[in-house]
Amino acid sequence: MKISKITWFIFAFFAISIGIYPVLYALVDMSQGLLGNKPPEVLSNSLWSLFFYLHIGFGGVSLLTGWSQFSKKIRARNIQLHRTLGKIYMIAVLVSGISSVFIAFYATGGIGPSFGFGILGVLWLLTSAIAYIAVRKKHIPQHKVWMIQSYALTFAAVTLRLWLPFMGAVLHMEFIDSYRVVAWLCWVPNLLIAFAIIKIKYPKVSWFVLS
Ligand code: HEM
Repeated sequence: MKISKITWFIFAFFAISIGIYPVLYALVDMSQGLLGNKPPEVLSNSLWSLFFYLHIGFGGVSLLTGWSQFSKKIRARNIQLHRTLGKIYMIAVLVSGISSVFIAFYATGGIGPSFGFGILGVLWLLTSAIAYIAVRKKHIPQHKVWMIQSYALTFAAVTLRLWLPFMGAVLHMEFIDSYRVVAWLCWVPNLLIAFAIIKIKYPKVSWFVLS
C-alpha cells in the first residue's frame, strides 16, 4: 500500500470511528465519563443538556460527512454527492458549533478549557462560514483553503481523544491537568498543520478574494 493510501485509511478510520462515538450516549450508560465530572446543577440545566446533545449529535455528523469531501476521485465521480454532503456538513457545523460555544462556558476544568473550547468553537464557525461564502461566490481555491482549516478544527474531536489517553497512560498526568492542556492541544497543532498543507498545496492562493 502506498503512503498516501495508508494516510487516507488512517484519516477515514478516525473520522468515522469518532464520528459514530456520540451514538454511545444513546446506547450505553455514559454517566461515568465526562458527565460524571459535572456538578448536579449543570446536569439538571435543561438548556445545557439540549446544547450538549445537539453538539455531540451534529458534531458526529460533521466528522462523518467531511472526510470524503477531500478526495479528488470521489468529487470527480459525483459532484452532486459532494454538494449534498457539503450542505449537511455546513448545517452540522452551524448547530454543533453554536452549541459548543454555549457548553464551553461550563467546561470541566474552569476558565482555561472554557477559553480553549470557546475559541475553537468560534474559529470552527468562522472558517466554515468563509468556506461556504467562497464556494457560493465560485471562488473554488479559497473554498479549498478554508475547508482545510474548517476540517482541521473538526478533527479536534479526534485529536482530543488521542491526546487524552496519551497524557494519562504515557505522561501519567492527572485527568484534570491533561484536560486543561488538551482544550488547546486538540486544535492549535491541527490548525498549524492545516496552514502547512495550504502553504505546500496552494502557495499562490490568496485567502481573502471574496468579492
Ligand atoms: C470543533 C469544535 C468543537 C468544540 C469547540 C467542541 C467543544 C466541546 C465542549 C466544550 C465539550 C464539553 C466539555 C466539558 O464540558 O468539559 C464537548 C464535549 C463533547 N464533544 Fe465536542 N467540540 C467540538 C467538536 C466536536 C465534534 C466534531 C464531535 C464529534 C464527535 C464532538 C463530540 C463531543 C462529545 C462526544 C463530547 C462529550 C465528551 C465525551 O464523551 O468525550 N465535538 N465538546
